[in-house]
Amino acid sequence: MKTLDQYNFAGKRAVVRVDFNVPLDKDFAITDDTRIRAATPTIKKILADGGSVVLLSHLGRPKGGPEDKFSLKHIVSRLSQEYGQQVQFAEDALQAEEQAKNLQPGQVLLVENVRFYKEEEKGDADFAAKLAKLGDVYVNDAFGTAHRRHASTAVMAESFVPADRVGGYLLLSELDNAKKVLEQAERPFTAIMGGAKISDKILIIEKLLDKVDNLLIGGGMAYTFAKAQGGSIGSSLLEEDKMPLALELIEKAKAKGVNLLLPTDSLIADKFANDAETKVAANDQIPDGWLGLDLGPDSIKAFTEVVRNSKTILWNGPMGVFELPTFAKGTTAVAQAIADATRESGAFSLIGGGDSAAAVNQLGFADQVSYISTGGGALLEYMEGKELPGVAALEAEQA
Ligand code: 3PG
Repeated sequence: MKTLDQYNFAGKRAVVRVDFNVPLDKDFAITDDTRIRAATPTIKKILADGGSVVLLSHLGRPKGGPEDKFSLKHIVSRLSQEYGQQVQFAEDALQAEEQAKNLQPGQVLLVENVRFYKEEEKGDADFAAKLAKLGDVYVNDAFGTAHRRHASTAVMAESFVPADRVGGYLLLSELDNAKKVLEQAERPFTAIMGGAKISDKILIIEKLLDKVDNLLIGGGMAYTFAKAQGGSIGSSLLEEDKMPLALELIEKAKAKGVNLLLPTDSLIADKFANDAETKVAANDQIPDGWLGLDLGPDSIKAFTEVVRNSKTILWNGPMGVFELPTFAKGTTAVAQAIADATRESGAFSLIGGGDSAAAVNQLGFADQVSYISTGGGALLEYMEGKELPGVAALEAEQA
């Protein structure tokens, strides 16, 4: 794959696919700008060379037509601040060619949400060819969307000769960091999986069982394991149809010699609210009407001890409902243990997935871990061993 440093953008117009799918509040203010900041080195390199930049991105999941709440116009002022210039905006991806052609070296044009055309997600070749007219070199820095074979993330690369398809800095550093965990992990290697559903994580858990020494499972999905083993979990999250799978995973971990750690206790609540009544209960003895919303103290102790003794750590998914301060202890303690291992024993720690990245940012540990991925689904699919179409399109030899 051609990299940015192998390319001189002087006098070139680069059409750059970024993933600026950032969270916005009800007033359209950006609540987490990590993805914007993460793409800046790529944009600045092109501009510093004397090139101009046409930015393509999606925002949210519009239904194939314009929707104000998903308009990228909401991020223009943030981008202008980031690049130190008034970023131009093209209101329609298919009417942007003239504006793109008028760009002077050093200027940036942001094009409206490509998903306002249903052809984007279909990977329509004609639509892709039209987008390709916006630049004379294609740069993909959208790691977060590299698992989609959409027009702007993969198909439009075919309109450029291989020498004019370039992988951005973010895309390459994401791949490098994921490889450090998958291929060069120092032992002990610990994966911490959390979040609500086993079904979202099953493929990666199975894959990781071949790689890790310790697998820690927390968050909502742990209750399906507890119930499958005969426990009472009250009204905690349950994927009933995944109970056999949970038992199978426990058996597989045993057979492969992986230390699979499940929570033994939980902080339980009488309702899903920050001001709920709470108490600690064994994970297999949660009374009816109560639900587990965080790790309990014994589980926190057991989990953090393993994490602190690890040399490679992969974390995906929170340990509890960290958005509510009452239930943030487990997630905070795990984040702290990861930060300690990274600092004190030089462990390599990779945080992946929207929720755990948000937790690390929100809880103030962002500077204390080795790498925070901007990818949610993309990182999971890469770790599952799937080919990412966005990456494959850059690597293809033929136009
Ligand atoms: C993400 O947020 O994971 C990426 O931007 C991809 O978004 P999507 O799941 O809507 O394709």
